Amino acid sequence: MMKAAVIRKYGGPDVFRIEEVEEPRPSAGEIKIRLQATSINPIDYKVRKGYLFFLSGFRFPKILCSDFSGTVEECGAGVTDFSPGDEVYGFTNGAAKGGGLAEVLCCKASLASKKPASLNFEEAAAVPLAASTAYQALTHVGGLKSGMRVLVTGATGGVGHYAVQLASIAGAHVTGVCRSSGEATAKSLGCDEVIAYDREDFRRSGQHFDLIFDAAGKYGFGDCRSLLTEQGTYVTTIPGPASMLRQILSGSKGRKARFIVANSNDEDLSLLRQWCEDGQLKPMIEAVFSLEETRQAYELAESGKIRGKVVIRT
Ligand SMILES: NC(=O)c1ccc[n+]([C@@H]2O[C@H](COP(=O)([O-])OP(=O)(O)OC[C@H]3O[C@@H](n4cnc5c(N)ncnc54)[C@H](OP(=O)(O)O)[C@@H]3O)[C@@H](O)[C@H]2O)c1
Repeated sequence: MMKAAVIRKYGGPDVFRIEEVEEPRPSAGEIKIRLQATSINPIDYKVRKGYLFFLSGFRFPKILCSDFSGTVEECGAGVTDFSPGDEVYGFTNGAAKGGGLAEVLCCKASLASKKPASLNFEEAAAVPLAASTAYQALTHVGGLKSGMRVLVTGATGGVGHYAVQLASIAGAHVTGVCRSSGEATAKSLGCDEVIAYDREDFRRSGQHFDLIFDAAGKYGFGDCRSLLTEQGTYVTTIPGPASMLRQILSGSKGRKARFIVANSNDEDLSLLRQWCEDGQLKPMIEAVFSLEETRQAYELAESGKIRGKVVIRT
């Protein structure tokens, strides 16, 4: 048996219960991870609220949280990349036995990667989903290159704070959009310029960008189209029928609308690990909670008042 924070119905942060549940066993191709920490991403509370019931279904109990860091305890048949004792991090893509809010998780070995040696487990758990989203949106989808003018919304948020650092590492000129109280933080992350959205509307700044990454998911392509350079790309973190249609309609030439659906893979997590170990990429952590404090952790994460990530020690 293992300890986990489970939900038995959809609802607010008060639906979490600490329970003893059966420990999952790894199938072929899977690894069993003794978890140390997880972190909260908005998808986790969107699932908890039942907003994504058409994907998450009505089977309870559920163990939420996709991000994980921990130590491999057992390898299923055919796993050659990991051995018991390896320290790993990654995210489940919603396809695991269990979730991050537990002592143990089993997932496909391909979803995990070696943990950055320079980070402790709590710091490592703050990286996978948010930083992979930022990296994949900027490079795989947005075609980030040195010298580009890049605008990142939600510059001090979970995804945005990694996007600012990664665009800066790539040699882009970075403009961050955030609340005025986050201005100094956004600059410290690597923003060359900051537009405080509670003082100024970036859509009226008169500036043009090669890449607009709406990490906050607050602005549509229609809001941003006229700010893009002729071949510029807009990438949103909100996938769905509207973004898919916009992607099709905007085509592959001229100003393009794109969306990101992040996936956990060793290649990208290894690059992120390298930047962490080089000291170029740093997770920003607002607070760390224990598993028993899952409700409080979610309340804080959902308050709209945090910078970076909320971590839960498992
Ligand atoms: N598609 C995918 O694969 C994927 C992956 C990860 C996340 N997401 C989605 O991406 C979105 C952001 O995720 P996250 O983890 O970064 O969330 P988060 O940590 O809550 O950050 C959102 C940020 O947006 C800022 N913000 C709020 N209103 C804004 C506005 N009008 N203009 C500019 N910034 C604004 C907030 O801070 P301030 O108001 O203090 O500036 C906050 O820092 C969520 O909807 C999430 O579900 C999608």
